[in-house]
Amino acid sequence: MNTQVKLAGLILLAASVIVPAFAQDTGAATYKAKCLMCHGAKGLADAPAGKAMKVKPISDPDVKKLSEAQMVDAVSKGMGKMQPYKDKLTDAQIKDVVAYFRTFLN
Ligand code: HEC
Repeated sequence: MNTQVKLAGLILLAASVIVPAFAQDTGAATYKAKCLMCHGAKGLADAPAGKAMKVKPISDPDVKKLSEAQMVDAVSKGMGKMQPYKDKLTDAQIKDVVAYFRTFLN
């Protein structure tokens, strides 16, 4: 194998390790900045604003049954007392932050 091929393989390998971690990081950063104050550090809605607004914890069956697409929809268009985020976050940011939120599901 020549060096160039090896190098290309190495870069691909590095990229496949770094990219998903990066998506998780941006989701986590958005969550901490925009969602944590209501939904809590682990999605349990135990933060003060979340308690005051009676936000449902992610362990609630009504929340658990939602698909990823339904959650993206709720965040983008708003739900109940939650404002719509479609003008504040990009579609990609909403997708990442919902993916992060869903890591609390288990
Ligand atoms: C001001 C408080 C507040 C903030 C900030 C907030 N939410 Fe909500 N969120 C709510 C309320 C209230 C609901 C309505 C349903 C409920 O009570 O859980 C809701 C509903 C949801 C739902 C539907 C499932 C559910 O829990 O009922 C998702 C998913 C969600 N929010 C994600 C997010 C994400 C992601 C962010 C950050 C971009 C965010 N929320 C920011 C208060 C908030």
